[in-house]
Amino acid sequence: MKVLVINGPNLNMLGVREPAIYGTGTYADLERICREAAADNGFDDIEVFQSNHEGAIVDKIQEAWGTVDGIVINPAAYTHTSVAILDALKAVAIPAIEVHISDVDAREAFRQVSYAGMACIARVAGEGLNGYRHAIEMLSERLA
Ligand code: DQA
Repeated sequence: MKVLVINGPNLNMLGVREPAIYGTGTYADLERICREAAADNGFDDIEVFQSNHEGAIVDKIQEAWGTVDGIVINPAAYTHTSVAILDALKAVAIPAIEVHISDVDAREAFRQVSYAGMACIARVAGEGLNGYRHAIEMLSERLA
């Protein structure tokens, strides 16, 4: 079983970026948490991908078709704007879980809209980097 973890813009800046909101963990920490969670939950393969570019994220979702069993996605700011990412998730129809490090529902009104979430089976928000572990556990249960 393979899980693909997709991270959107500015998540490569974790640790530096607004630590009061996103914490002091780095992108390397995020990647380590995902790899450990995948190994602990029956996945024998994982890819952790990050891009600041919407089209690159759409390409990655399309490439997952036929090769990946489940997706964990934090589209970051594109969550709130990208019909293209929503459509890509719908096109491949791979079970996907949406993750947000912060509690987006408790923030600005514009962060309370999620296009990608409309194609996801569940959402984890406000659990910090450990939310990725939670999402991978949920995905594993769903795929079992
Ligand atoms: C985020 C929340 C988004 O609103 C924001 O644009 C991000 C990160 C989160 O993980 O909390 O970049 O997706």
